[in-house]
Amino acid sequence: VAHSDTIVGGFTRQAESFNASAPATNQDLLDLISALAAPRLEQRWLEAACGPGLIARSLAPAVAAVHGFDLTPAMIALARRDAAAAGLHNTTFAVGAAAALPVPDASFDGAVTRFSLHHIPVPVRVLRELRRVTRSGGTIVVVDPLADEDGGEAAFVQELERLRDPSHWATLSRSRLNELVAQAGLRVAREEVRPMELDFEDWLSRGGADAAQLAMVEALLSERPQGTPCFRIQPRRGGRTLRLQMWLTRLSSDD
Ligand SMILES: C[S@@+](CC[C@H](N)C(=O)[O-])C[C@H]1O[C@@H](n2cnc3c(N)ncnc32)[C@H](O)[C@@H]1O
Repeated sequence: VAHSDTIVGGFTRQAESFNASAPATNQDLLDLISALAAPRLEQRWLEAACGPGLIARSLAPAVAAVHGFDLTPAMIALARRDAAAAGLHNTTFAVGAAAALPVPDASFDGAVTRFSLHHIPVPVRVLRELRRVTRSGGTIVVVDPLADEDGGEAAFVQELERLRDPSHWATLSRSRLNELVAQAGLRVAREEVRPMELDFEDWLSRGGADAAQLAMVEALLSERPQGTPCFRIQPRRGGRTLRLQMWLTRLSSDD
């Protein structure tokens, strides 16, 4: 199965649950993204791999227009539905691949993508594409969970993540992300790492794994019950908390 088919299949099933999930709707994170984007009322913004358009919908009142693109038609349908329900008239959503967006060069003032790079086998292509569609001097905001710098720890988490959700490709370490940013001809204007806590059981249940895969996740976890520094699992009454490290960055092009 091509990875893009795994993505579309997985996110068709997960569309509604992702749209309502705590990490997706976390207002603090949406506010941090708006602060990093610092959009202006006359600007046109693009959201790549927009899913149900949560960021597009949160930016919409602060800009002239936001256009969202996603590979999964079910996500685009949700984004349109919820933008209409919110009375937003300056958002549009269409099916489109993040590394081959159907828009001209330099046609946006800013571009944003969240929780997407780790699903994409060659993520530098997405960074290059965001650079292409953003005007010179424009802003690019990228948010994704970090992988551990230690290769063994990163491999452990990658195995677990792929068992839980086959649409996962690989989270990247902070140093690797910075290499890709440079390879894409972009410069880091601001970079932050913030912890993000999730309910581990809720996170597991949204991935689409069947009982056998979930048993394999638990078997793997029994080797390392506390997880890793970038994927810390803490028991608490009634369940487990998953603490990730979130990478938030504002980029600009060198030209
Ligand atoms: C975890 S969801 C995140 C949605 C949204 N970015 C957000 O943070 O609310 C990942 C999304 O990436 C999309 N996606 C994955 N690979 C893609 C690609 N190559 N091009 C466009 N969208 C892609 C999926 O369809 C899915 O909607």
